[in-house]
Amino acid sequence: MIKKIGIPKEVKKDEGRVSLIPEHIAQFTGLADIFIESGAGLGSGFSDKDYTKAGAKIVDSPTELYGNSDIICKVKEPQEQEFELLDSSHVLFGYLHLASNLDLTKKLLEKKLTGIATEMIMDDNIYPLLIPMSKIAGNLAIQKGMQFLEYSSGGKGVLLSSISEKKNAKVTVIGCGEVGKSSISKAISIGANVTAIDLNEKVLEDLKKVYGDSINTLKGDTKESTNAIRSADLIIGAVLIPGKKPPVVIKNEDISKMEKGTVIIDVAIDQGGCVEKVKANTHSEPFTVRDGVLISAIANLPGAVPKTSSIELSTALQKYVYFLLQEDWFENYKNDKNLSPSLQIHNGLLLSEEVADSLSLSVSKLV
Ligand SMILES: NC(=O)c1ccc[n+]([C@@H]2O[C@H](COP(=O)([O-])OP(=O)(O)OC[C@H]3O[C@@H](n4cnc5c(N)ncnc54)[C@H](O)[C@@H]3O)[C@@H](O)[C@H]2O)c1
Repeated sequence: MIKKIGIPKEVKKDEGRVSLIPEHIAQFTGLADIFIESGAGLGSGFSDKDYTKAGAKIVDSPTELYGNSDIICKVKEPQEQEFELLDSSHVLFGYLHLASNLDLTKKLLEKKLTGIATEMIMDDNIYPLLIPMSKIAGNLAIQKGMQFLEYSSGGKGVLLSSISEKKNAKVTVIGCGEVGKSSISKAISIGANVTAIDLNEKVLEDLKKVYGDSINTLKGDTKESTNAIRSADLIIGAVLIPGKKPPVVIKNEDISKMEKGTVIIDVAIDQGGCVEKVKANTHSEPFTVRDGVLISAIANLPGAVPKTSSIELSTALQKYVYFLLQEDWFENYKNDKNLSPSLQIHNGLLLSEEVADSLSLSVSKLV
């Protein structure tokens, strides 16, 4: 039976991405019917006409979109107004980040649908759908940080780039995976004084090999790393324990010791945040001030550059959408060691141990 893929217009605040771009849906012609909500691609520069030409059918309302589709191919987790549109016939496919969201997890369990958290899809020990967004987010963390450090934003009034031999601005990056490395590369390229903190010594050794004396590397949870966090102008929090809520690596006590106008970007907010008691922000209200420190925690940073992000996302996503179109996909998916960690909700059962652990819920196994 031919499957029906639905691409809704994202409704999360300030989110302009779309899950699949026209170039990538053309390959599904004959294999699946593709429905897209009118205007879903506009934020990324793709019109309804572009999608029609590629073989998609345009639908006018979310009700029609969800009502017509078997596979809901989204970017971000469903928002409250989308809950009533979901039902047990749906395979929900998108970034779900359930470990930080008890309400959403309960709702998806109640709906008895199948929920696939694309950020947990693995391939050869990497997360192919997280990596491109992480690289973009790491870049944007520096871009946003530079702007928030400006005097008119309430920042210290420090320029991150160096304009002479002297490196004025101090950037500390905690968690040096994909996000962290992207922030580090950008910060070093503009001449900031960069300190990288991670618990994994191999990660720090690799950074030293690449950047030599242009970077200071420190093991996390030490007196030295605490000092580097407290004395920086800009701190990027980018830690991850896959599938789980992140550890708190920037504590209230650290914030109280920072200079006024210091900026923290908590990139790990999509998983719940790595700053103590952090509150989520949006692109339109991008930071909260605590003890004179600007804390920015935007869970959809790549949404700021949807044109770039949607192309990267769709490129990485297409082969997994293809997988869902196979007749016996579910059996194959649940038995595939790379894919099964992303199959987190099915028929009222929570299948992810990490999510269950983070939210104090019970985990189930499929037989
Ligand atoms: N806000 C956004 O828009 C956005 C976009 C993309 C990714 N993210 C998030 O950014 C975070 C990082 O993603 P990533 O792809 O770089 O992950 P990654 O797995 O590539 O890197 C995480 C790093 O954190 C380190 N780490 C773990 N615990 C630590 C601790 N206590 N102290 C120091 N280092 C620690 C790990 O060793 C690893 O090097 C994740 O939470 C991810 O979900 C957010």
